[in-house]
Amino acid sequence: MALPDSFIQELIARNDVESVISAYVPLRRRGRNLVGLCPFHGEKTASFTVYPETASFYCFGCHVGGDVITFIKQIESLEYMDAVRFLADRSGMKMPENSRENEQTSRMRVRILEINREAARLFHQVLYQPEGKIALDYYHSRGYTDSTIRRFGLGYAPDSWDFLIKALRQKGYYPEELKEAFLAAKGRNGGYYDVYRNRVIIPIIDVRGAVVGFGGRVLDDAKPKYINTENTLVYNKRRNLFALNFAKNTGKELNICEGYMDAIAMHQAGFTNTVAALGTAFPEEQVQLIARYADRVNLIFDADLAGREATQRAIANLRKTGLDVRVVSIPDGKDPDEYIKRNGPEAFRRLLEGSANAVEYRLLEIGKNYDIRSSNGKILYFKEAAKVLAELDSPVERDVYAGRLSELLGISKEAILQEVEGNRRGKQRAAAKQQLQTLVRQESKELRQVNADAAAHPRAANAEESLLGTLILHPDYFKQIKPILSPEQMVTAFNRELYTRLLERYQQGLMLELSFLSVDYDEAQMAYITRMVRDAKERVLTPEDAVTFATIIRDEHALKGLADPANATDEELLKMMETLRARKKK
Ligand code: GTP
Ligand code: MN
Repeated sequence: MALPDSFIQELIARNDVESVISAYVPLRRRGRNLVGLCPFHGEKTASFTVYPETASFYCFGCHVGGDVITFIKQIESLEYMDAVRFLADRSGMKMPENSRENEQTSRMRVRILEINREAARLFHQVLYQPEGKIALDYYHSRGYTDSTIRRFGLGYAPDSWDFLIKALRQKGYYPEELKEAFLAAKGRNGGYYDVYRNRVIIPIIDVRGAVVGFGGRVLDDAKPKYINTENTLVYNKRRNLFALNFAKNTGKELNICEGYMDAIAMHQAGFTNTVAALGTAFPEEQVQLIARYADRVNLIFDADLAGREATQRAIANLRKTGLDVRVVSIPDGKDPDEYIKRNGPEAFRRLLEGSANAVEYRLLEIGKNYDIRSSNGKILYFKEAAKVLAELDSPVERDVYAGRLSELLGISKEAILQEVEGNRRGKQRAAAKQQLQTLVRQESKELRQVNADAAAHPRAANAEESLLGTLILHPDYFKQIKPILSPEQMVTAFNRELYTRLLERYQQGLMLELSFLSVDYDEAQMAYITRMVRDAKERVLTPEDAVTFATIIRDEHALKGLADPANATDEELLKMMETLRARKKK
């Protein structure tokens, strides 16, 4: 019994973990997360934590945890399907008629991914052939270097109705399939034609490293300026960010700009922690994606009216997860691409450093709505501004901004702070950090009851848990891990099974998030998996780390055989001895 991923995706987006859980548990913000009293065991200090960025929850006291479906299962005592139905009803969604994603669909998904990869390669190759010269010149004229072009796999769709259809037909892909990938369309006469013609092509690559879609820009002023992949089985713009494949491993800060060309120009200028929003106002899915990889974001949007409105919406959505949101305004209504071209990377860096934080930006924006020279305008502005300050958790920050407001408005700082505190009442929070520390130490023992083998193989289990948590967060690391670690080499049974499942989903081009696992695992198992992800998220893990974990697991696997050397072949025995010797040296 499996529901289609697309359905689960929408369900999770419409039932964000914070709003679902806060209907049962009063939650208070603590940093990027929310905490409350655990509804599953009696407690006086809050150890129940909700993590908006991975759409999960976890209790440090009683070690329950999982995604939003797991939560509903437990709190409403429902079976999986009924919990899903419960959430579907809650958010006005209809349950899918046929709840098994059929084999045809998953085969099609794999075909689309192959087609996209082939298409990206062809579009790129054309650039260096005579018919692509015009596009190569275009990129050069915009200041993009050959190494940037290569890195982003930029390309060109020639001025032809069937360039791609023909080339891919030779490789065994049919126009009907290209249509599913949004690369071909069907004409009135029933024939197929290429969607992208005479456009420069920007491939959109997801965090797995798969080509999921394309943007295509005209080379002149023709309209429409861009054609972008619409929803396909492998692409949904609400779930993707352009260039996140490069930006996600750069640290905890992300620059977010509006356009592909801006993001590319920023990468070229050295700001490799930049993504582009793909024309959305940050729906829940994108916010979660951002929060997975960043603590702080700099919004770099156009300064026109549309851009400012987009910025306001974006701030509201992004703040929900506790991200530190800053706003960069570029002078003279330029976009980052133009600004960098004109003034150079150094000037842009200064802009970034001078980014107004979200509070300053919002105060400025509110200010535009009122005339503070009139008493009435002043009072209205004051009320609005106090609400903004009330959202700040740091008393120092509240004090600083209250001081500034006081100067601006000629109202005493005390009066301002009083208003702010009034707004804050009921939002107070008490920290219980010390107690949490102790609880954390106990948890791993209890949780591992899910994975009975862990006790006998702690070193392997640790490495497996780190690796699995990492792979769920960074599915693209599978590329390196898959060739060096086969499922049989996972030492402990539960983790072996989980690895197998993740690998299968990866190969089918499916998402690896927690919510897609909750159908297969019970509450205790979900808690165990949630903890892996949480721990992996707290560390910044690189592909090299993942390889290290895999190597440890392989070593441990080889050693496990030693327990029963009678069954080992000579060759295996030799290998075990080698491993053992290598390990002693460390
Ligand atoms: P350049 O003019 O090449 O520098 O592009 P830009 O990125 O500066 O363009 P603009 O600011 O106009 O648009 C920002 C983003 O909005 C683009 O990267 C696209 O994702 C999207 N966009 C712009 N024009 C269109 C359009 O005509 N159709 C669609 N679907 N999206 C568009
Ligand atoms: Mn531009």
